[in-house]
This record gives sequence, C-alpha cells and structure tokens, in this order.
Amino acid sequence: MTARRSTARRAAPPAPETMEEPLNSRTGWLAAVNEQKPPKPTTIPTADLAAVSQLDLARYNRERRAWHQNLGPFKTPSLRRVLEDLDLVVESNSEVRQRIRPAVAVSGQANLGKTTAVVSYGQDLHRRRVAELGDRTATGDERVPVCYIRLTGQTHPRTLNEMLCMFYGLPGTNRQTAPVLARRAQDAIARCETEVVILDDVHFVQPTHAAGQAVNNHLKHLAETLPCTFVYAGIDLDRSSALLGGDTPAGAQTRRRWTLVPMEPWHQSDSDWSREWRRLLSGIEQNLVLGSAWPGMLHRDLPEYLWARSAGVIGSLMTLIHRGCHLAVTTREEALNRDILERVRLDYAAEHTRKDRTSS
Ligand SMILES: Nc1ncnc2c1ncn2[C@@H]1O[C@H](COP(=O)(O)OP(=O)(O)O)[C@@H](O)[C@H]1O
Ligand SMILES: [Mg+2]
Repeated sequence: MTARRSTARRAAPPAPETMEEPLNSRTGWLAAVNEQKPPKPTTIPTADLAAVSQLDLARYNRERRAWHQNLGPFKTPSLRRVLEDLDLVVESNSEVRQRIRPAVAVSGQANLGKTTAVVSYGQDLHRRRVAELGDRTATGDERVPVCYIRLTGQTHPRTLNEMLCMFYGLPGTNRQTAPVLARRAQDAIARCETEVVILDDVHFVQPTHAAGQAVNNHLKHLAETLPCTFVYAGIDLDRSSALLGGDTPAGAQTRRRWTLVPMEPWHQSDSDWSREWRRLLSGIEQNLVLGSAWPGMLHRDLPEYLWARSAGVIGSLMTLIHRGCHLAVTTREEALNRDILERVRLDYAAEHTRKDRTSS
C-alpha cells in the first residue's frame, strides 16, 4: 500500500522524445538549427483574465513562462560586432587550402553572451551553407557545416577526440584508442564537409596542469590537420595564458594565429550608450506578454534602474526580466515596475556590484 502510494507520488521522468538533446551532439545541433520558434502568445488584457477558465489560464501562463525564458537573442551592439568579426574570419578562410587557417576566439566575462553569439553565428552559417550547397555532401552524407563542442573541467586529448566523435554520433567511441578516435573524427568532418568547429568554454583548459598542456597541444594539432576554422569561446582568454600559451614559442605561434574578439559589458561612457540601451529595452518590452504593460514601461520608465541592477551584463538583465515577468504573472500585477523587480534576487556578481554601487 505504502509502496504503491510512493510510486504514484514520484514525478514521472520526462519521456525521452520530450527531452531536449544537447547542442553538442549532431542531432541536438540540427534540431536547434531547424527549430521553429513558437509564435508569441497573444496577450490577454488583465481585465479579461477573470473570465478565463483555470485550465486555460494555466496553459496561458505556462506558454508565456517559456516565452519569457527564451527571449532574444537581441542584436545588441556587442553581439553585432562579434557576429561581424566571426564572419570576417570564417569567410576569408573559406577558400584557404594549403596553409593553416587563422582561428578566432571570443573572450570576456561570464554571462555577457559569448555562447549565445557563437551558437547564433554557427546556426546562421549552417542554414546559409545548406541553402547554398544543399543538405547532402559530395559523399552523400548529411551536410554539417558546423560542429559545436563544449569543453569541461575533465577534458583530455582523448576526451576531446571522443567529444568530436560523439558529436557526429559515431558508435562505440569508448572502446577505441586515441589515434583511432582522431582518425574517425577527421573522417566525419571531411564527409560532412564541416567548415567551422566551435569549442565553447575553453577556459576549462588549464595551462598549469599537464592535461591542460596536452589538450592545448592537441588543439593545435587539430587546427593544423583539419580543414576547418576553429572558433573558441571562453572566459577571459587573453588574461589566462591557457590557450595563448604563455611565454613559449608555441604561445607566440598561437598569438599570431588567433584573432581575439573581446565581448565587453556595456559602458555608460560609450557615446551611443543611452540610445542603444533604450533600444534594447524597447525590443524586450515589445516581446513581453503581460496584460497591463504599457509602451515605455522599460525603456522610458526604468532604463537607469535596469542598468543599476544588471551593470550592463545581458545575462543578468535577461534573468531580471524573466523572473520579474514570472512575479508579474503570479502576483497578477501583469506589468513590470520597480516594486516587482526589487523582489527579484539576481546572480551573486550582479547583486555584489549593486551593493558596491549603492554603498558608495
Ligand atoms: N543578445 C542577447 N539577447 C537576449 N538574451 C541574451 C543575449 N545574449 C545572452 N543572452 C542571455 O544571457 C544569458 C547568458 O548568455 P551566455 O551566452 O550563456 O553568456 P556567456 O557564454 O558569455 O556566459 C543566457 O541566458 C542568454 O540567453
Ligand atoms: Mg558560455
């Protein structure tokens, strides 16, 4: 009896087909590339909510919660600059045959939108190439112009090869030796005509650890042997000597081959700060599904406040907005204002900067 009750109470695991596949697998990447964003839910004016049934209200609230959690990406000035720089390096590499292709590294603090930028660029390039060249390669394989890998603290040269093989869905990778894995990854890249390999979170490669140095050397080897442009993204890559190799001949070589694209938080001293910041807030505002929102709710009434809370870090701003929207829905306020947003606690870094600012 007890056993039956506890089984009934246990939440059912999500059905496999409803679980999102990770981006660092070919199927997950392709699903994200081809995904149609659901349409924006139609806003119900607050006065009409009382007439909506409980069931429909629950559905409406679930839809807008998902919507608010996935806003964007908005074309901020820093995103636009990074996309331009990525395109410049990748396209000017596209006909390089004999020599090593220069790489590009997007570097900056956490939460500034580096992953968003490289993924958005990669997905866009993927769609463009498939539209241009068709979805099959010369060997009849599925065209995969971009490969996306996310490094972890435990990355070794072998795991890097394994990650590449796993991205292409090659079976039985854990029973193979490192050189076999490397050959299989190379083969998949050639057959799928992969042009760009994105390696995200490369700050996990620690130069002081032997494994980090080995990964560093292996990355160099891959860049020299694969006919791809490598796009790296990670935290403060210019400051950590991890991949830029320190004061060694290898480091000097990397510094010549890499183009570093800094991703910076917004600065209030930028000449176009006020205009661009308000433009972003206006874009966000137009995408909210709240029944009592008014034009200017964010960009006219709260620009300074939102700046003070987020310090211009897009990740903190977006968290503030979607948590605020959740509260606006649950409190039935149906709008964002200072009182609602004051109730949202943000990431440590944002709260810490804020305290510094208010106490000074
Ligand atoms: N241009 C953008 N528009 C909307 N949301 C963004 C944008 N850039 C980043 N974000 C959001 O900010 C958060 C942090 O972004 P992410 O790309 O993971 O940063 P990083 O890789 O620099 O740590 C994510 O939730 C992401 O959806
Ligand atoms: Mg990231």
